[in-house]
Amino acid sequence: MRSHYCGQVTETQLDQEVSLCGWVNRRRDHGGVIFIDLRDREGLVQVVFDPDRADVFATAERVRNEYVLKLKGRVRSRPEGTINDQLTTGRIEVLGLELEVLNAAETPPFQLDDDDVNEDIRLRYRYIDLRRDAMQQRMRMRSQVTRLMRNYLDDQGFWDIETPMLTKATPEGARDYLVPSRTHPGSFFALPQSPQLFKQLLMMSGMDRYYQIVRCFRDEDLRADRQPEFTQLDIETTFLDEHEVMRITETMMRDLFRQVLDVELANPFPTMSYAEAMERYGSDKPDLRIDLELVDLGTEMKDVEFKVFSGPANDPDGRIVVLRVPGGTDISRKEIDGYTDYVARYGAKGLAWIKVNDVAAGREGLQSPIIKFLPDDVLDAIIKKTGTQTGDILFFGAGNARVVNESIGALRIRVGHDRGLVSEGWAPLWVVDFPMFEKDGKGEWTSLHHPFTAPSADKAADLKTDPGKLLSRAYDMVLNGTELGGGSVRIHKTDMQQAVFELLGIGEDEAEDKFGFLLTALKYGCPPHAGIAFGLDRLIMLMSGASSIRDVMAFPKTQTAACPLTSAPAEVSAAQLKELNLRLRKTEEKVKD
Ligand code: AMO
Ligand code: AMP
Repeated sequence: MRSHYCGQVTETQLDQEVSLCGWVNRRRDHGGVIFIDLRDREGLVQVVFDPDRADVFATAERVRNEYVLKLKGRVRSRPEGTINDQLTTGRIEVLGLELEVLNAAETPPFQLDDDDVNEDIRLRYRYIDLRRDAMQQRMRMRSQVTRLMRNYLDDQGFWDIETPMLTKATPEGARDYLVPSRTHPGSFFALPQSPQLFKQLLMMSGMDRYYQIVRCFRDEDLRADRQPEFTQLDIETTFLDEHEVMRITETMMRDLFRQVLDVELANPFPTMSYAEAMERYGSDKPDLRIDLELVDLGTEMKDVEFKVFSGPANDPDGRIVVLRVPGGTDISRKEIDGYTDYVARYGAKGLAWIKVNDVAAGREGLQSPIIKFLPDDVLDAIIKKTGTQTGDILFFGAGNARVVNESIGALRIRVGHDRGLVSEGWAPLWVVDFPMFEKDGKGEWTSLHHPFTAPSADKAADLKTDPGKLLSRAYDMVLNGTELGGGSVRIHKTDMQQAVFELLGIGEDEAEDKFGFLLTALKYGCPPHAGIAFGLDRLIMLMSGASSIRDVMAFPKTQTAACPLTSAPAEVSAAQLKELNLRLRKTEEKVKD
């Protein structure tokens, strides 16, 4: 039907006849001459219709935005003064010779060049939204990235192997999406939160190197970088340790960034321990583009009278830190109140601050509601330890260590953005040496990664000595403060796997019921293995500069995990429920619980 894409007609085709198909981006009536910007995936071209050709002209008069056209025309130079060097096709135009309307279109619910359309409307009419150039470029990039990933992994000897979607629960820490079984009344499949157990079984099957670009399902609270279904680049290898997995995958990332964005990422990526990341940034995914750090004041504050600070300094679960913001004395009281509300969202009970108006003037040079509680030597020590200078502001976070890390870690990012302290470019990082276990809200041990991650201990018996101190062989890849991927060396011995389950409070019966197949498989010749999974949507979001992963998925869900396009999830018929042996509870019953 066509000889060229609209967006690819250039002076090379001068005086030639071309056949084009596409959508009407805009139609302009210029006193007797009609201009149509015809659009396809590759871009726009200007088509001109002269009244000389009466029938073609009459058809052109009839078309409106988003009509689908097929036309023939002759390529000619644009007159001087109308050349547009921003467009690939900007030096030419096409004189319309034949025109056929392939399909009319109703007036679209929004203009394609309107950047301020409500997201619900965009998602309801996603097929129109996706016609926008920005969306098409993101889909193009996504396709390019997955192609390069496949090529790279293929070159490295990885096999693409599929794993089931209808399966059993996989513990990645979210709620499962369940699918009722018709043939086994009362039983349910779970959609995979990841292919974790299957990829481990593939290593036990001797496949050696596996990858899959695979959909994962997690019913969790959604955010800009979380969707209920999302895509992982999932990888697993046999007989490689953490360093080799990290090397292979960071090389892949460097290749991707070079080929897609012409950007050279650090070689090698820097590596930081979990402990250091928490200490300096209050986060296990620090954004290293922001040159602000948390400084610990545990020692300095031990003996001060101000209980808000000395309490946490003397509490093993407490923490007191200061965040120095250079040049921050111009931050207003109103802004400080805003930051105080912001840290309160993370559970912080307050946000003490000191403005340093003149660092040489001692106490007189400081402005703050809390200096009256702090002796001179402590003030001096803080200033020295943080390298504070005239014009800086100091923010203090004190309390439970987790709350302080989360709140001041988040404040660091917020202030960094507010004050333009985020440097240009890309800051990749490996975070390693994670603790194996942490205590949950109820004081029970849970895995930081997942229960199949190997501890750095050799023997199962070592697990019990001090579980809180034990490190795991897990690693996370972080880019600009986003966790791009995470993986680990896996447990490959039955006794170690059982010991980990036991410590996590998963009894023998429960372990057998949930993971019996894995425990059995471990007994039949399981090789040492390791792997990692990357969030593909997050990667494309960062590479394309989108602000949400929804913008790099063709058909994403809303923040409440619904699809405005198809109206999913939806009610089903009584007959379907009956077939599945399900009965819905009455609304009153639901309210009662
Ligand atoms: P993990 O749970 O860390 O590891 O997931 C790996 C990566 O997947 C991305 N991701 C998400 N992206 C969008 N929406 C979500 N809801 C979402 N959840 C996770 C993140 C994350 O780093 N089986 C292990 C991997 C392994 O051990 O090999 C796993 O799934 O970018
Ligand atoms: P207060 O004595 O409660 O009025 O607090 C004095 C100052 O300390 C105020 O600026 C509070 O915002 C701040 N503050 C109170 N609790 C904390 C906390 N847990 N961490 C940091 N600052 C706090």
